[in-house]
Amino acid sequence: MSDAVFEYMGYKIPIHLVNLTGAGPETFDTIARHHFQTLNDVVGIAPDHTVLEIGCGIGRDAMQLTNIITEGTYIGVDIIKPSIDWCTNNISRAYSNFRFFHLDIQDHLHNPNGTLSTRDCKVPAKDNSVDRIILWSVFTHMLADDIAHYMREFKRVLKSDGLVYATCFVVNDDIIDAARRTNLTIYGLTFEHLYEQGCFVQDLERPAAAVAFTEEAIYKISRAGGLELAQPIIFGAWSGHHRSPYGQDAMVLQKRAIR
Ligand SMILES: C[S@@+](CC[C@H](N)C(=O)[O-])C[C@H]1O[C@@H](n2cnc3c(N)ncnc32)[C@H](O)[C@@H]1O
Repeated sequence: MSDAVFEYMGYKIPIHLVNLTGAGPETFDTIARHHFQTLNDVVGIAPDHTVLEIGCGIGRDAMQLTNIITEGTYIGVDIIKPSIDWCTNNISRAYSNFRFFHLDIQDHLHNPNGTLSTRDCKVPAKDNSVDRIILWSVFTHMLADDIAHYMREFKRVLKSDGLVYATCFVVNDDIIDAARRTNLTIYGLTFEHLYEQGCFVQDLERPAAAVAFTEEAIYKISRAGGLELAQPIIFGAWSGHHRSPYGQDAMVLQKRAIR
């Protein structure tokens, strides 16, 4: 394996781990800045927040957030052990309030030899302790039952005014038609295959490669997890159907009000 590194914000990041984030060094900074700006605009991050990031990868967002979370805590979780080890040895070493945890969840793309399923895992945070939970391009690789499990965990750990920001792909017939016509994504995403009710995948043999849901399915999964949308779905421009400054679609969730 190559030990080439990418120099970024004073860190030397192994390029083979950068490549596992779904994009390489050439777009790393652009995506990092876009994430940072979007989080601030949509859910806001404060210096004293406790932030949980699921699927933190090689710490793209964590590095940016070290400039903001000065009094609070950041908890990063991923299923790629070498990325978590790198984040601990480099980011936590400089910022002791930034902590990283490996979950050995099996996934053909990111951790083929993993021994657990998402549903076996608790997220490493105490009940009612987290202000913001973020997931970039993670629910885009997960199926409904596993997402609902994480949502139940989010309900457990979120403070009463806490928010989740999670990107996803949302489809209906018009969006799928537009994606076919425009073919804007580098992966040619058109979500032609119905996998289960309300869930479409790009590749039936490797369903987790790219997963999309109908709006109705998103409401249902969120409710099953005890969460609800805090605002309408934020549509991205990926399919060509929506004009948007964002790429993927996104949901902002809160604990479901007791009615
Ligand atoms: C496309 S990458 C995005 C990484 C990071 N969010 C970023 O934007 O740089 C998706 C990440 O989600 C992680 N992941 C996939 N399934 C997961 C699961 N069930 N629980 C936690 N992380 C998961 C992968 O290991 C990978 O690091």
